[in-house]
Amino acid sequence: MGLFAKLVERISDNPVLFILCRRILENDFKAIRALIRRDLKVRAGLRTLDLGCGPGAFAHIFEGDPYVGADLNARYIAHAQRKCPGTFVVGDARKLDLPGRSFDQVLIFGMLHHLSDDDARAVLGEVVRLLVPGGRLLVIEDIPAVSKLNLIGHLIHNVENGEHIRPTEEYRRLYSEAARVEREEILQSGICDYYAAVLVTPTS
Ligand SMILES: C[S@@+](CC[C@H](N)C(=O)[O-])C[C@H]1O[C@@H](n2cnc3c(N)ncnc32)[C@H](O)[C@@H]1O
Repeated sequence: MGLFAKLVERISDNPVLFILCRRILENDFKAIRALIRRDLKVRAGLRTLDLGCGPGAFAHIFEGDPYVGADLNARYIAHAQRKCPGTFVVGDARKLDLPGRSFDQVLIFGMLHHLSDDDARAVLGEVVRLLVPGGRLLVIEDIPAVSKLNLIGHLIHNVENGEHIRPTEEYRRLYSEAARVEREEILQSGICDYYAAVLVTPTS
């Protein structure tokens, strides 16, 4: 592993540094927060699940709502429990120990590009199980840097441990297998390019 890759791994391992560096690279997540506020209902009392919530960087948006964050990384969850509003659980998004139909909306930001197609399918199946009929999933995932001039974006994607960064059409194919894709867009968050999609589960 190269020196830069080791540095990225070290930073990712520390919840405070992980959030700080991403905030710098992504312009304080302004575009992502605006997208979440537009596509999910916030502070409206809806039950929200943040899958792969990391150290809880987006929990404050839902302050006052019944919000649950779940992540595999126990260190991130311990940090979120200390610093963020809401309930946080360590768990594998492919199979969570939570009752079916217990959430109105789900957020996934930057998790599926760490997972193979089969694992991503398992996560999406779990989302469909956990959502009420007609529930919404906002999923925001890394795509290859759009501009050739975005050298830092290309470099970070080359060393970052997201081994499954996909082109938009591959994400869309996976999503369509699970639910109806209601809306989609490409967006830029600082130096990072993302594909965002809203999926809606059947109403019956
Ligand atoms: C790039 S981070 C994004 C974290 C958070 N959504 C954010 O934007 O700050 C990806 C997260 O997905 C989590 N993750 C990866 N695979 C997972 C799985 N199978 N179940 C739950 N969390 C998972 C990682 O532990 C990590 O916290």
